[in-house]
Amino acid sequence: MKSRSHILPVGVLTALLLSQVCSGIKWLTLSQTTSHINQTQHCKRLSGLVSSQVQLCRSNLELMQTIVQAAREVKKTCQKTFADMRWNCSSIEIAADGQKYPPDLDRGTREAAFVYALSAATISHTIARACTSGDLRLCTCGPIPAEIPEPGYRWGGCADNLHYGLMTGSKFSDAPMKMKRSGSHANKLMHLHNSEVGRQVLRESMVMKCKCHGVSGSCSIRTCWRGLQDLREIAMDLKTKYLSATKVIHRPMGTRKQLVPKDIDIRPVRENELVYLQSSPDFCSKNEKLGSVGTQDRQCNKTSVGSDSCDLMCCGRGYNPYTEKLVERCHCKYHWCCYVTCKKCERIVERYVCK
Ligand SMILES: *[C@@H]1O[C@H](CO)[C@@H](O)[C@H](O)[C@H]1NC(C)=O
Ligand SMILES: *[C@@H]1O[C@H](CO)[C@@H](O)[C@H](O)[C@H]1NC(C)=O
Ligand SMILES: *[C@@H]1O[C@H](CO)[C@@H](O)[C@H](O)[C@H]1NC(C)=O
Repeated sequence: MKSRSHILPVGVLTALLLSQVCSGIKWLTLSQTTSHINQTQHCKRLSGLVSSQVQLCRSNLELMQTIVQAAREVKKTCQKTFADMRWNCSSIEIAADGQKYPPDLDRGTREAAFVYALSAATISHTIARACTSGDLRLCTCGPIPAEIPEPGYRWGGCADNLHYGLMTGSKFSDAPMKMKRSGSHANKLMHLHNSEVGRQVLRESMVMKCKCHGVSGSCSIRTCWRGLQDLREIAMDLKTKYLSATKVIHRPMGTRKQLVPKDIDIRPVRENELVYLQSSPDFCSKNEKLGSVGTQDRQCNKTSVGSDSCDLMCCGRGYNPYTEKLVERCHCKYHWCCYVTCKKCERIVERYVCK
């Protein structure tokens, strides 16, 4: 058997491995895709997709570039949002072809809850925006609101197509959890629930955006449309939900097994709360089994009182100072007309890293 394994094409091997691990966010590895996906044959060669996602790729090829972009946004946004936390979302880029995600994202943890919610919100956000910018031929601007605008306002511009984004995004990102023979039922319920929380936060982020018109910016008339807030803000909302996430257990409720809050008296899980099944470590020290990389050598902030403070970030182990030379523009002068000259100034700042 051993001698045969090396002649299996890479695609088959990947498929074999994927059929055993069904991690619902494997599609995020699309962020590493470098080639342009413009032929249906490319679909089955992409790593991290389950069969129904491959089908969606074939039937809506032009969507794939947008999904690749969404995968990159998830990674970037997750890491930015958690840059001041002990768990900093570094494992999101670890899952290479056919491998499992590290345990922090592969188990039913609070961190996984955040990443599933963010992924679901991001894919729909990116698609809704791609409709608006004209990147996709199958969709266009969202509908003009039915309400009559207030005096001085009028509907115009191009609304983000939230409806198309939600419909198409959820079909793709929920696909792994809808597969019959993969992963535990409890995990699938948890991931589906948290994905829906992400989409709910996205729905709530639809706001009215306006542009002024009128003589020399007098703003006597405003053109308005419905647009989504930036992902960064959606991620901040989800981070708040992450911090107050509810631990649940999988147990019979009526005729089926469902997720119910563990500690609080019997109530169903709320639609707006993130839920998790397994507690996380404190992420202070390295523990590969639990998916913790630890905080040694992480930068901390001596004056902060938040999660990035040296006390909290370094878990009481202490920290080492080092100095960094910053080069900045300074003594800037405006010259008539019309340019600015600046000098370069150097400044030494003290920084700290955890022991
Ligand atoms: C696909 O994209 C590549 C790279 O952009 C390009 O060279 C190639 O011609 C495209 N193929 C088709 C069939 O459009
Ligand atoms: C997250 O923390 C780890 C461990 O300290 C570090 O190696 C990594 O560079 C950090 N990642 C980001 C994106 O800040
Ligand atoms: C450290 O925290 C303080 C207070 O929150 C903040 O004003 C400052 O910009 C932070 N410094 C760095 C280097 O992030």
